[in-house]
Amino acid sequence: MTHTPTNILVTGAAGFIGSNFVHYWLGTYPNEKIIALDALTYAGNRENLDPVATSPQFRFVHGDILDTPLIEQLLVDEEINTIVHFAAESHVDRSIHGPDAFLKTNIEGSHSLLKAAKKIWLDGGVNDHRFHHVSTDEVYGTLTADEPAFTEQHRYLPNSPYAASKASSDHIVRSYHHTYGLNTTISNCSNNYGPYQFPEKLIPLVIANILDSKPLPIYGDGKQIRDWLYVDDHNRGIDLIIREGKTDNTYNIGGNNEWTNIDIVGLICTLLDEKFAHDTTMSSRFAKAPQNSGKKASSLITHVDDRLGHDRRYAINAHKIMTELGYNPVESFETGIRKTLDWYLSNEKWWRRIMDGSYQNWIGKNYK
Ligand code: NAD
Ligand code: DAU
Repeated sequence: MTHTPTNILVTGAAGFIGSNFVHYWLGTYPNEKIIALDALTYAGNRENLDPVATSPQFRFVHGDILDTPLIEQLLVDEEINTIVHFAAESHVDRSIHGPDAFLKTNIEGSHSLLKAAKKIWLDGGVNDHRFHHVSTDEVYGTLTADEPAFTEQHRYLPNSPYAASKASSDHIVRSYHHTYGLNTTISNCSNNYGPYQFPEKLIPLVIANILDSKPLPIYGDGKQIRDWLYVDDHNRGIDLIIREGKTDNTYNIGGNNEWTNIDIVGLICTLLDEKFAHDTTMSSRFAKAPQNSGKKASSLITHVDDRLGHDRRYAINAHKIMTELGYNPVESFETGIRKTLDWYLSNEKWWRRIMDGSYQNWIGKNYK
């Protein structure tokens, strides 16, 4: 059964993927209204939504997904028939240092939304509705080097408090379909990269640290593998699932693009060395960068203690979404990483506000 979104509630809309989703959606469907909900935690930033702030199809609501009455009111007042649920605590390192917020937001918060959707849509007779839950490949646990990539049938074996909280929310979403008949879908995606990613995550952290000549922390041996996807390709997949995906189905989303962490960091170092070599304005804009004193960016690479319980490898098998829904990523890694680098170079104010502010770097304490 296909679904036609009219008005759509996007949770976590001021975060990394949520804000990119809002830009993608309003750019693609200018007649569909978006209600962007966000609690503006440390990871949420209203500025991420500035490019669409004046669109008549857009409304920002500063609120918490745990506030069930607020969600119910929004569903009624705004005649929402689609929820795309991004809001979460999303950083694995933070979940190791303080799991409570993860259980609260990711499990209880998701349940709060489901309760509101059940009440307003199911009890209220809104038949054409869709609750889409944005989840992660981390629910499947870790792979060895030669194991096949995760399919939707892979058993759940979450290893970090973050992954366990996402796995729990996936199960609760599933139960709301099975028990009450709510129209739900779930996507489990691999590592995203692109504009507006908070610089606690590997790629933006490495870019910002090179420009300020700070150490590039590599956890353990750096041979851990992640499967990287440009953020718009994730959002294109979600769009397809909302409209064409089968209710109660899970779809894995990925770009078949596995890299070791050390190779990703090496690539960013090389690309930035090239920028300094070819663009004469770089030296004055980023005076502290190592290239200005004849050093390569890779001289900043610093091996630090490994992440506790660190998953060795993630890899996504996206066969189901490709064959059933015709999904294909459009961004190659070559173009996506250059676009991302250019975005961070052009938006220094955006990341410097975070890096120079009260943001705490989780690994700053244990450089070897
Ligand atoms: P993010 O940390 O950048 O953004 C999360 C957003 O949620 C922030 O704007 C934050 O303010 C908001 N938020 C947090 N708690 C809230 C609450 N109680 N109520 C309302 N808003 C709240 O995260 P992200 O990287 O954009 O991830 C978005 C979603 O995608 C998450 O569910 C994550 O698990 C999932 N995901 C992320 C990736 C990735 O690589 N980043 C990959 C797969 C899946
Ligand atoms: O796989 C999807 C997941 O990808 C999402 O569900 C998470 O929300 C998202 O944060 C991401 O999780 P990771 O833990 O894989 O991303 P992160 O950028 O934190 O780390 C990527 C890899 O790089 C990981 O193996 C840890 C390593 N790393 C990370 C940082 C921040 C380092 O070696 N040094 C670092 O400083």
